[in-house]
Amino acid sequence: MTETILVDRPAERVARITLNRPQALNALNRQAMNEITAAAAELDRDPDIGAIVLTGSAKAFAAGADIKEMAPQSFSEVYAADWFAGWETLGRVRTPLVAAVAGYALGGGCELAMMCDVLLAADTAKFGQPEITLGVIPGMGGSQRLTRAIGKAKAMDLVLTGRMIGAEEAERAGLVSRIVPADALPEEAVATAAKIAAMSKPAAMLAKEAVNRAFETSLSEGLLFERRLFHSTFATADQKEGMTAFVEKRPPEFRHG
Ligand code: HXC
Repeated sequence: MTETILVDRPAERVARITLNRPQALNALNRQAMNEITAAAAELDRDPDIGAIVLTGSAKAFAAGADIKEMAPQSFSEVYAADWFAGWETLGRVRTPLVAAVAGYALGGGCELAMMCDVLLAADTAKFGQPEITLGVIPGMGGSQRLTRAIGKAKAMDLVLTGRMIGAEEAERAGLVSRIVPADALPEEAVATAAKIAAMSKPAAMLAKEAVNRAFETSLSEGLLFERRLFHSTFATADQKEGMTAFVEKRPPEFRHG
């Protein structure tokens, strides 16, 4: 039984994790981290799930790591417990993750959204890395994933000033995949996840792995990695089905193998 999240299956082959600490604007305490990562890891192992939506409320995706929980901690405590290392579990999820962000995505909230693969933003979304205003710095990937996503100039602006940006600026900067009207966000997130989940699951997982490799390696190694993964898709029944269906002018029926 989880206390900080709700998990449901809103469409075929789609799971949704909804952050549910409204009293704290979905601030991410340790319990939330443990529950989100455990739920995502379990769904990742489920062959009947092809995409996972991660979302919050209309007011807040997540207003950051839980400041009240962090405030009294000492260096030796956060170092010994390796605070936030647990989030790496989410980075290892191979099923595509769709973040649906409305309202605040600040600090750890912005970092959590950036751990996802497709980032849909409501027109009400506000992103920022305000850690500097608390006397600390990002600790869940904000200095790394944000810089890779939007470049040094813009990342420095956000990380050093702590200012918030709206959905439009975030989209212009390359932080978000798409902006949708706030009232359409839940539906659009599920529709996007359902679209991904209907594709061949091995192909979707390989595609995610290939894109992510671009952030880890040189171009020549990345191109080789991509090509080898591409070759491997020819070992799947879904490759035969996808290409045969095209030739026969009918929609494919992927079996996810
Ligand atoms: C704990 C939080 C919280 C947070 C909000 N709340 N954000 N509690 N941790 N990150 C709580 C408030 O204390 C308040 O509880 C309730 O949620 C509602 O928030 P309000 O501030 O009253 O709402 P509002 O006036 O609408 O302002 C919204 C807000 C503001 C602008 C988002 O809450 C805010 O600035 N929050 C902090 C944002 C932030 O700095 N995030 C980064 C965290 S550091 P009560 O009990 O008073 O009603 C981080 C670090 C990562 O993420 C790694 C580095 C170490």
